[in-house]
Amino acid sequence: MSRAVPEQKRTWRTGTAPGIFPILGHGIALYRQPLAFLNSLPAYGDLVEIRLGPQRAWMVCHPELTHEVLMDPHTFDKGGPLYDRLGKLMGDGLVTCRQPTHRDKRRLLQPAFRPSHVAEYTDLVTEEAAAVCRAWPVGQDVAVTEAMMALTTRVTSRVLLSDSLDDRTTAEVRDCLGAVVRGLFVRTVVPIDALFRLPTPANRRYRRALSRLHEIIDAAIRERRRGDDRDDVLGTLLKAAKGDASTAADGGRPTALVTDQEVHDHLITLLLTGVETQALALTSAFSLLARHPQAERRLHAELDSVLAGGRRPTPEDLPHLVYTRCVVSETLRHSSPGWLFTRVATKETELAGCRLPEGATVLYSPHLLHHDPSSFPDPGRFDPDRWLPGRPTAEERRAMMPFSAGNRKCLGDEFAMVEATLALATIAGRRRLRHLPGYVDRKPRPGITMGPRSLVMTCAPRSPMPSAASLAHRTTAAPCTSDSRTAGDHVVDDA
Ligand code: HEM
Repeated sequence: MSRAVPEQKRTWRTGTAPGIFPILGHGIALYRQPLAFLNSLPAYGDLVEIRLGPQRAWMVCHPELTHEVLMDPHTFDKGGPLYDRLGKLMGDGLVTCRQPTHRDKRRLLQPAFRPSHVAEYTDLVTEEAAAVCRAWPVGQDVAVTEAMMALTTRVTSRVLLSDSLDDRTTAEVRDCLGAVVRGLFVRTVVPIDALFRLPTPANRRYRRALSRLHEIIDAAIRERRRGDDRDDVLGTLLKAAKGDASTAADGGRPTALVTDQEVHDHLITLLLTGVETQALALTSAFSLLARHPQAERRLHAELDSVLAGGRRPTPEDLPHLVYTRCVVSETLRHSSPGWLFTRVATKETELAGCRLPEGATVLYSPHLLHHDPSSFPDPGRFDPDRWLPGRPTAEERRAMMPFSAGNRKCLGDEFAMVEATLALATIAGRRRLRHLPGYVDRKPRPGITMGPRSLVMTCAPRSPMPSAASLAHRTTAAPCTSDSRTAGDHVVDDA
């Protein structure tokens, strides 16, 4: 018979990161060598004080402590330099809104991203992914990041707005989103507004991209108001704006009236969150697979077996694409596109035994958690087998947070997993991507998101694999050459 053991109060380690620059604090380190800087922090404690510009901030470096922060949104609300910046762009959308208004907004948007609804997007994703393959001639070099941005912009804009954006405007949205997420990051780690009012080319580029995005969204809303109702996210928002009771989003309860500004904020929020993250995840997956031929062979074997004859995947295939989903999960662990987030203490509080003042900025980083060897053995190694059914340990499951946790967990998490699995299956089922000769695994440039922003690869022939069963026993991926705990050297050219 087991006896309940009284829970021991844990003793947390706290410290301060060295290397504080006057005025800029750790902004330079976060800007130039973000992953190396993040990975150095656990050595100074489970909660480590850093400086963002002149401001004090606290980085949580332990999964349990991160959950403590994320599960208490009343004490640690959205806020801090990241969300203060994002708020200027996304207004009061779901990502940036504060706790008191969050529930109503989430209830309004949640149904479009429920698993039952997500299955309806399958055809849309595989149709767009198959179009990518058709545009990639075998034997030629292809701009993978650009193509993945185009793919996810098209998928997300069709989910949000059906066919309201023509091809040229969709391409413009893609370009504007890229410029905005890069510019936002610089403004977050060096929160000195005067710098960004200067008429530099980068500042002008950022402002131009921003105002064009707003114009495109406004035009889409105007046009829809003049035309027919559609069953998409914009349709849901416009019904809620009219106070239409049939939009009751969750269990038949009526939703709060939505203002015109909120309709705009929701759309820009979903575009910004849904496009780049997903494009970078897919690009990283192709890059990692090309460097890990054994994992790539197993993926191809699964695809050749499940999608025999090269057909496009359907929702019924998803349960059988086990290894494909493991590749997606391991990509999100190894190269998490969402890598740094902030919260703000709404009142004076205690965290890890440390008193934090009201207004204190608290940061957490999926990258840091995913690359801590105490949670993931040999964290720099790309090993999709970690996610095979029954394999992940409790520590790994707890530390794996590509989509965050708690009530602010990603709204599109299931949609993102399904979209990535289907897009990967469709493309890898038809094409094999190789790195160019002399390819060097440069560490990605940081932005609000992180990942390979301009990857070009060669499209090689793809011949069917021997049966999946004959490869099933080979489970170990080749070791990754770089150790992402110590890697650095990030060049950001958009300051
Ligand atoms: C690989 C793809 C994606 C990743 C890695 C990702 C990651 C994340 C993370 C980490 C958060 C929490 C941020 C925080 O704690 O401050 C988040 C929130 C959010 N994500 Fe995603 N996301 C992805 C795709 C998507 C997609 C496709 C959509 C929708 C189209 C989406 C919509 C949202 C929204 C609306 C929130 C705010 C949720 C709330 O506060 O209630 N994301 N995402």
